Amino acid sequence: MYPLKRNRRLRVNKSIRNLVKENNITSNDFLVPLFVVEGKGIKDEIPSIPNYFRHSLDTLEKEVVSLWGLGIKAVLLFVKVEDTLKDNFGKEAINPNGLMQRAIKTIKNKCPEILVMTDVALDPYSIYGHDGVVEKGQIMNDQTIEILAKMSISHANAGANFLAPSDMMDGRIKTIRKALERENYKDVGLMSYSAKYASSFYGPFRAALDSAPVNKKNIPKDKKTYQMDYANRLEAVREVETDINEGADIIMIKPGMAYLDIIRDVRNKFDIPIAAYQVSGEYAMIKAASEKGWLDQDKVMLETTMAFKRAGADIIASYFAKDIIKLIS
Ligand code: PBG
Repeated sequence: MYPLKRNRRLRVNKSIRNLVKENNITSNDFLVPLFVVEGKGIKDEIPSIPNYFRHSLDTLEKEVVSLWGLGIKAVLLFVKVEDTLKDNFGKEAINPNGLMQRAIKTIKNKCPEILVMTDVALDPYSIYGHDGVVEKGQIMNDQTIEILAKMSISHANAGANFLAPSDMMDGRIKTIRKALERENYKDVGLMSYSAKYASSFYGPFRAALDSAPVNKKNIPKDKKTYQMDYANRLEAVREVETDINEGADIIMIKPGMAYLDIIRDVRNKFDIPIAAYQVSGEYAMIKAASEKGWLDQDKVMLETTMAFKRAGADIIASYFAKDIIKLIS
């Protein structure tokens, strides 16, 4: 032992530190969330997600070209739906000419090689801000997954490469997978938000899309009957196992920073690719503290991103992706 064994020897200079580095960050690690709105020439900064934007289709096209140029391989699409198009059943979600469907086509036309992944959930389309159909104060599981399957086919028709169900209904992966097979979409993949917690870190995102549960009588004010209880760890393993058995190709854990233990549990247990989502509230915290001069944004963003890799994530959905690639290249 000491002094024969000195652990600091491997930290003496940058060369040796880099040689023994256990994890690295590259442009292959990221999934970039993109927010799409109707209109023309729009690149609207989202107040709750500073320096992040809602794009109309024309500026979205430019953004994706720039991301591809930086080496980003995949984007994850979310749409802001006009109030007049919202209902209880997500009718607009399966409109072949809806904003999501047009966004997919626009991107695949301009930049065919980038992977287009789409959020599959009813909340942006729901008058109640829920991920499922609401009846008598309940979120209806089986009715919802039939709609999600139609929505998935509609995204596949438009050219999506991967569908990302973020709703946490039971059985949706199996129902969607079967629908895709039936329609011969054998190579359209499923990235399932398998362990998605009922988290307060989604606040800035819901503000961006105006998709929060509404405050109305007989409407649940939170998503706790479908999203997971943050007290639970074993339940996440069960959820992931279920989705793998139902046909998920990639599983996601969300939020990120406060759930690194879950990523590691799943990494130790399964050999499937794991995505982790550093959600809007995590981004907002780092942004706000850096704006105040209390944290160094660049350093903290790299440190937290590396934490995801160390925990065992293969793919990181991050609002910092572009900033990180610019910084490290
Ligand atoms: C919708 C969805 C949410 C997020 C991704 N998809 C919000 C929610 O479940 O209420 C949150 C992403 C973020 O906060 O960055 N199903």
